[in-house]
Amino acid sequence: MSKIIAPSILSADFTRLAEEVNAVKQAGADWIHVDVMDGHFVHNLTLGIPIVEALSRTNPPPLDIHLQIEAPESFSDKFIDAAGDSILGITLQYETCRLLHGSLSRIKARGVKAGVAISPMTPISVLEEVLEYVDMVLIMTVEPGFPGQKLIPSMVDKISMLREIIEDFPNKPLIQVDGGVKLDNIKLVSDAGADSIVSGSGIFGTPDYAETISQMRAEIQS
Ligand code: DX5
Ligand code: ZN
Repeated sequence: MSKIIAPSILSADFTRLAEEVNAVKQAGADWIHVDVMDGHFVHNLTLGIPIVEALSRTNPPPLDIHLQIEAPESFSDKFIDAAGDSILGITLQYETCRLLHGSLSRIKARGVKAGVAISPMTPISVLEEVLEYVDMVLIMTVEPGFPGQKLIPSMVDKISMLREIIEDFPNKPLIQVDGGVKLDNIKLVSDAGADSIVSGSGIFGTPDYAETISQMRAEIQS
């Protein structure tokens, strides 16, 4: 399976959001990663339902919505409605969702991919009961909250460990990595076992998105 590259629009120029989404789409992005933050789970407040609704009207690549909010189960339906036909999936943070089984089941019942994310200091072992109920596991390779941070090196081993564990699960959830991924380290996370790779400043912080994404693909395949 070819690896999935998902630019995070949190690093895009919000004064030209539709153009930016179209630019990475033309540049070969597979998904658009949408970072929703509420100022409670993380020390940042980013975007909500009206922006996702607006994004859905730009004919974007599939929208991969990352909920970094308290009580995400109260909002997943609203984001699915807002994204409309452009929805790919909703990813909930393990640390904030107390009703995980029900929340994941409800997302899947709407025909949408359900993901669970774990912060850097949350061990993989917490996923033991969760893996069979998800389509994707997001390993945060930085502390959630801001783009432009440095990838935490010890997270690379965490990706490899999860890769091994997932082999035993018939549903084979995808592994996504998110945080601090750039051209100079994308091969590291890809070789460790990532299927889907989020990059925000590593793409939107470069002058030529097409050049950057094609170089990233070349690195992954090298
Ligand atoms: C951080 C977010 C990431 C971030 C990625 O909490 O979940 O998606 O925006 O940005 P970079 O790639 O610049 O670290
Ligand atoms: Zn994210």
